[in-house]
Amino acid sequence: MSSDELAAVFNAGAAEFTWLTPQIWGPAGQALTFQLRLRPGDAVLDVCCGAGASALPAAAAVGPDGLVHAVDLADDLLEEGRLLASDRALQNIDFVHADATEWEPPSTVPEAGYDALASSYGVFFLPHMDETVNRLVNLVRPGGKVGVTSWRRGALEDYAGAYFDAVGRHVPGFDVGARDKRDDPLEKLNTAGALSAWLTGFGTSAVEINELSNWLPATPELAWGLVLGSVLRGTLAGLAPGTVEAIRLEFLELLTERDIETLDLGTLVATAVVDR
Ligand SMILES: C[S@@+](CC[C@H](N)C(=O)[O-])C[C@H]1O[C@@H](n2cnc3c(N)ncnc32)[C@H](O)[C@@H]1O
Repeated sequence: MSSDELAAVFNAGAAEFTWLTPQIWGPAGQALTFQLRLRPGDAVLDVCCGAGASALPAAAAVGPDGLVHAVDLADDLLEEGRLLASDRALQNIDFVHADATEWEPPSTVPEAGYDALASSYGVFFLPHMDETVNRLVNLVRPGGKVGVTSWRRGALEDYAGAYFDAVGRHVPGFDVGARDKRDDPLEKLNTAGALSAWLTGFGTSAVEINELSNWLPATPELAWGLVLGSVLRGTLAGLAPGTVEAIRLEFLELLTERDIETLDLGTLVATAVVDR
């Protein structure tokens, strides 16, 4: 999916995305911020920030002498983030429309670089993930921190399988594709071992990885809300409303048939210290 298409999907799903925050994006963003052990005065870059699930707690953690640059492509999510920042009277956070692959720190960032780079459920969307992340890690000062969250292996697997099967039954020619796992960026992030090796590959050490366990009841509202408020929504683009409704019903039926009563949202929260 191109960056324009990704932005369109997340903009279209902004209401559902926001609705999911307290149960899904929020806990991971909080956990990531906590694990980064930010200090007052720190300068933080949060890429793929969405509505600020990790960027807003980071802004609270670094206090009035710190700053957070929260970067995303989806204007509707950025606007939601700005509203939340304003509700919380946080003045040290800028939600900026920009492509993370092209981000250049403004002059308010110390010359040595950011104190921390954060991205929650974000890096796997970046084109040329490793190259892009390497460039972003280079924007962090030596001794600064890098932190990401990503889905743990197996998370959402049966859920996504049911969803794609439902789409396949209603969209002629739809094929999730037999993706080569070696080309799947998530494969580099979905176990503690892989994630640790991936992070140290950017010249980091002292990797810390914790699993955030998050099991939520697979109610029809949550199951379908997660389709609409995530990248899965992209599969529905351009379909007639009747087809979307047929997919929804088929998907919910498949969840019941397959006894999928719980959504496994297991997440790895990883941080490391930049050596170079
Ligand atoms: C699953 S959301 C996560 C948002 C947020 N970090 C959170 O946890 O709530 C992924 C986000 O990545 C953003 N994104 C994808 N590619 C991007 C890019 N190249 N530059 C900036 N943002 C990007 C999308 O617009 C979307 O908001």
